[in-house]
Amino acid sequence: MNEGERQSAGTLLDVRDLRVSYAGRGRGRRGGRAAVDGVSLTVTAEETLGLVGESGSGKTTVARCVAGLLSPGAGTVTFEGRPLGRAGRRPPELQRAVQMVFQDPRSSLNPRMTVAAIIAEVWGTHPVTAPRGDRTAALHRLLAGMGLDPEVASRRAGDLSGGQCQRVSIARALAVRPRLLVCDEAVSALDVSVQAQILRLLADLRGRHRLAMLFISHDLGVVHQIADRVAVMSRGVIVEEGRTDEVLTAPRHPYTRALLDAALDLDDTVRDDDTVRDDGTVRDDDRARGDGRVRGDGTVRGDCTVRDDGTVPRDGMLPGDGTVWGDGTVRGDGTADGEVAV
Ligand SMILES: Nc1ncnc2c1ncn2[C@@H]1O[C@H](COP(=O)(O)OP(=O)(O)O)[C@@H](O)[C@H]1O
Ligand SMILES: [Mg+2]
Repeated sequence: MNEGERQSAGTLLDVRDLRVSYAGRGRGRRGGRAAVDGVSLTVTAEETLGLVGESGSGKTTVARCVAGLLSPGAGTVTFEGRPLGRAGRRPPELQRAVQMVFQDPRSSLNPRMTVAAIIAEVWGTHPVTAPRGDRTAALHRLLAGMGLDPEVASRRAGDLSGGQCQRVSIARALAVRPRLLVCDEAVSALDVSVQAQILRLLADLRGRHRLAMLFISHDLGVVHQIADRVAVMSRGVIVEEGRTDEVLTAPRHPYTRALLDAALDLDDTVRDDDTVRDDGTVRDDDRARGDGRVRGDGTVRGDCTVRDDGTVPRDGMLPGDGTVWGDGTVRGDGTADGEVAV
């Protein structure tokens, strides 16, 4: 796409040739590798771009530059054609246009503050977004939109569950009506069942608030569920980019293929609505990877109970690490046919 075409497609975020070297680590072109070594990407209005890559590939560094928490060594970050610059120096309307949700829901909220105070703070920072009328009612509406009870408003962040904290983080981001949400491993620290709920919430909010997203994850399965396009990052550069379905079903770059293979090997969690057959394959699954086989060696891993009819209940847990070996079937009482590692 040339520049004219990109603009007419409604480009919101345009990252060009971004370079970041951390002191004491890579020395850019001279010596060691830069953490981010010439990344370019765009996100158009209402689009979700997934950014995937193994740990250390530079994803968070890109996110921090986009969110204005870090100044790039070189390159530009523009929003609707305007340079974003560092957060502290951004014009307020650009500051609020780009909001971020972090990986660790607990450490991204002050545990001593009530949820009401957390939201009041961002409304104070961006008064143009503060509700005109009844603030309490507006706060309750905001929380309800995140699937939170009104009573959560008076609770301290430190007293909430990880899932609730992440909903509050998302509420805080959306309270100022952003155009672009940067989610950096926003579901990675959560239990699998909570992860699915937060993903559904994000997908729902994206439609309701006409949000664009830069959705960052090391987990291809998660990105697959939410991203329209995906960019694959390795060692500070983007090695492949395209429509999510195309990249994940017909990867062109060897690194993407390796990432997919690794996901098949490692990300073999059985989701709550999947059914495991006797032969170890997963039936009726839109989430299991590849051919639907849980693992090559027939093992099932993850926080799930396999019932004796072969189905997996919603919040069930297996004893121990939840591994079922071979073609073992686990009964409701936790006993098993076959070999079960506990
Ligand atoms: N504050 C920092 N100081 C020095 N090196 C860093 C810092 N943050 C990240 N790095 C290094 O930069 C590289 C990219 O890190 P990061 O952007 O966090 O990757 P990712 O989010 O993909 O795991 C890694 O090698 C990491 O060790
Ligand atoms: Mg990271």
